[in-house]
Amino acid sequence: MRMSNSKRAGIIGTGSFLPEKVLTNFDLEKIVDTNDEWIRTRSGIEERRIADENTATSDLATKAAQAALENAGKAPEEIDLILVATVTPDMSFPSTACIVQKNIGAVHAAAVDIEAACTGFIYGIAMAESFVKTGLFKNILVIGAETLSKICDYTDRNTCVLFGDGAGAAVISEVDGDFGILSSYLGADGMGAHLLTLPAGGSRIPVSGKSIEERLHYIKMDGTEVYKFAIKIMGEAAEKALEKIGMTKVDIDFLIPHQANIRIIESATRRLKISPEKVYVNLNKYGNMSAASVAVALDEANRKNLLKEGDTIVLVGFGGGLTWGSIVMKWKNIGR
Ligand code: UT7
Repeated sequence: MRMSNSKRAGIIGTGSFLPEKVLTNFDLEKIVDTNDEWIRTRSGIEERRIADENTATSDLATKAAQAALENAGKAPEEIDLILVATVTPDMSFPSTACIVQKNIGAVHAAAVDIEAACTGFIYGIAMAESFVKTGLFKNILVIGAETLSKICDYTDRNTCVLFGDGAGAAVISEVDGDFGILSSYLGADGMGAHLLTLPAGGSRIPVSGKSIEERLHYIKMDGTEVYKFAIKIMGEAAEKALEKIGMTKVDIDFLIPHQANIRIIESATRRLKISPEKVYVNLNKYGNMSAASVAVALDEANRKNLLKEGDTIVLVGFGGGLTWGSIVMKWKNIGR
C-alpha cells in the first residue's frame, strides 16, 4: 500500500508525433512476398508510418516532447530530467535524450536513454514516478520514440510488415489529491534475450562487411515464441500492478496496451474481462512502434477525451529483453 503522506506523481501532459508517410499493406505486397489479408488477419495491422531518410528518432521525439510540454503548460526550462525510451537511438552515443534536450532547450534537465525495448516507455514512467516521489526531480519528460523502419529488413516478411515509426511523450510531475500513479510493476527475463534482437552494431558483433552481408544489422525475431510469451504476460502484468494496491481487474476503467498484435490485445482483454471499447487500439494505423506504441496510444486516448477524471487507467506492455511492465493510475483531466 502507498503511504498516505508520500508525494504522488502523475501525468500532467501528453504529446505525440507521427511521420507523414504512410506505408500500407498493399505497398508492402509490392516489396516482399506478403499480402494484405495475411497481415490484417494475423496482426491487425493495415498501415504504418515511415520516417524519411533525413529523419532520426530524436526528430520525432522532439516534436512529441514539445506537444507534451504545451499540453502540460510547462516551459522547457522547467524540465529537470528527460528519459528517452528507444531501441533506435540516433546513434550509440550520445544519448538521444541529450539531443532532445538541446532541441527543445531544456537547459536545466539531466538526460538519459532507457532501453527496455517495447516496454521502455512503461519503465520510464515507473522510474519518473519514483524520482518525483523522492523529490530528486520535479518535472520529468518521458518519451517513447522509434524509427524502426531504419532497422527493418524489407526482404524479411516475418518482421518488416509489423513495425512502424512514431513518438509519444508524457510530462510527470507531483499531483494533488487522489490522482496520479498508484502502482507500477516491472519485470524481465534475460533467458528470452535471444528471441528478439538486433545482432550487429554493438560490442558482440561490431559492424563489418560480413555482418552487413549476413544482414545482422536488422531486427531478428522468433515471432511464435514472443507471441506465446506476450499472451501469458500482458494480463498477468496488469493484474500484478493492480494486486500491489489491493485492486483487481474489475477496477480497470480503461486499458492502454502495447500495440504489437490485435490477437495479443484481444487475449489480454478476455483475460482481464474488459469490454473492447475500454481498450485503446491504434495498431491498425501505426503497426508496432516498440517504445512509442503505449506513449502514442496514451496521447491519442487523452486527446480524444477517452480518459475520464477519476478513471483507473492501466498501461501494460511487453517486449524484447524479455521485458514487461504495467502502470496503474487515477486519471486527472489535463488540457487538450
Ligand atoms: O513488440 C514485441 C514484438 N513482437 C511481437 O509481439 C510479435 C509476436 N508475434 C506475432 O505477433 C506473431 O507470431 C506474428 C504476427 C509475427 C506471426 O503470426 P503467426 O500466426 O504466429 O504466424 P507464423 O509465424 O506461424 O507463420 C505462419 C505462416 C508461415 O508459413 P508456413 O510456414 O505455415 O508456410 C509463415 O512463413 O505465415 C507465413 N508468413 C507470412 N505470410 C505472408 C509469415 N509472415 C508472413 C507475411 N506474409 N508477412
